Amino acid sequence: MYENLLFEKKGNVAIVTVNRPEKLNALNDATITELGKVFEEVKNDDEIYVTILTGAGEKAFVAGADIKELNAMNVVGGEAMSAKGQGVFNAIENLGKPVIAAVNGYALGGGCELAMACHIRLASEKAVFGQPEVNLGIIPGYGGTQRLARLVNPGRALEYILTGDMINAKEAFRVGLVNHVYSADELMNKAMELAEKIASKGQIAVRMAVKAVVATKETSQNEGQKLEAGLFAVCMGSEDFKEGTSAFLEKRKPEFKNK
Ligand code: COA
Repeated sequence: MYENLLFEKKGNVAIVTVNRPEKLNALNDATITELGKVFEEVKNDDEIYVTILTGAGEKAFVAGADIKELNAMNVVGGEAMSAKGQGVFNAIENLGKPVIAAVNGYALGGGCELAMACHIRLASEKAVFGQPEVNLGIIPGYGGTQRLARLVNPGRALEYILTGDMINAKEAFRVGLVNHVYSADELMNKAMELAEKIASKGQIAVRMAVKAVVATKETSQNEGQKLEAGLFAVCMGSEDFKEGTSAFLEKRKPEFKNK
C-alpha cells in the first residue's frame, strides 16, 4: 500500500497515479521514496509488461518538487535530494520495460522531469510543461537539464529553463516533447490502447528494444550498434522469434509466450 500513490493492474498493464491532488501531486520526499518502491515492484512483477504513469485529479500530472519541503533545505540537503530524485527517475528510465507518461495537466519542474524519464509521453490538451525552478532560485535537479536538452535541443531547453516559461500541449507536441495530444476525456483510453498494443507483442523483443533505445543516451553510434547486435541475437534465441517468423510464413497471428 502506498500513501501518495495509487497502483493498479489491468491485465499486463500497470497504472501508477501520483495521488496528492490537493497539492497538485507535488513530489515531496515521501512520494519520491514511494515512486522508487513502486517501480521496483513493477520491475519484479513478471505479469507487468507496460506501465502508465499519471497524476490524480483534473489539474495536474505533477506540479514539481514540494516547495514547502524545498524551502527548509540547505546546500548539503539539496545535493542529497537531487541525487535521490535522480536515482529514482534513472530507475524508471532504466526499468527495462516501457513506461508511458499520460500527462493530464501541469507537468512542471520535477513533474516535467518525471515525464521525461518515461519512455513515451502522451498529453491531454490541458497539459502544461515547464521548468520554472529559476523562479525559486534553483535549477532543475532531477535530471531535467540533461533530458530536456537531449529531447528538444540545448537552445530550446535553455530558453525554457532560463525563463521558467511554460508551454502548452500543442507547443510540447511541436517541439517533440510529447508523441500525441488527446482531449482530456480520451487521454487514459489512448494510453491504455497504446499500452495494450505494446503488451500484445513478444516481450523479449519489447524489452530488448527499450534497452537499445535508452542506451543511445550513453553510447556512440558504434558502441550502440554493437549492443544492438547482441540484443538482436538474444531475440533470435527466443521461442517468440520462431513463433513470430513461423506465424508470418503460415499467414496466421503469432502467439507469443515471452520465452
Ligand atoms: N509544491 C508544493 N505545493 C504546491 C506545488 C508545489 N510544487 N504546486 C502547487 N502546490 C499547492 C499550492 O501551494 C496549493 O496549496 P494550498 O491550497 O494549500 O495553498 C495547491 O497546491 C493548489 O495550487 P495553486 O497554486 O493554488 O493552484 P493554481 O491553479 O492557482 O496554480 C500552478 C497552479 C501550477 C501554476 C501553481 O501551483 C504553481 O506555480 N506551482 C508551483 C510550480 C513550480 O514552481 N514547480 C517547480 C517546483 S521545483
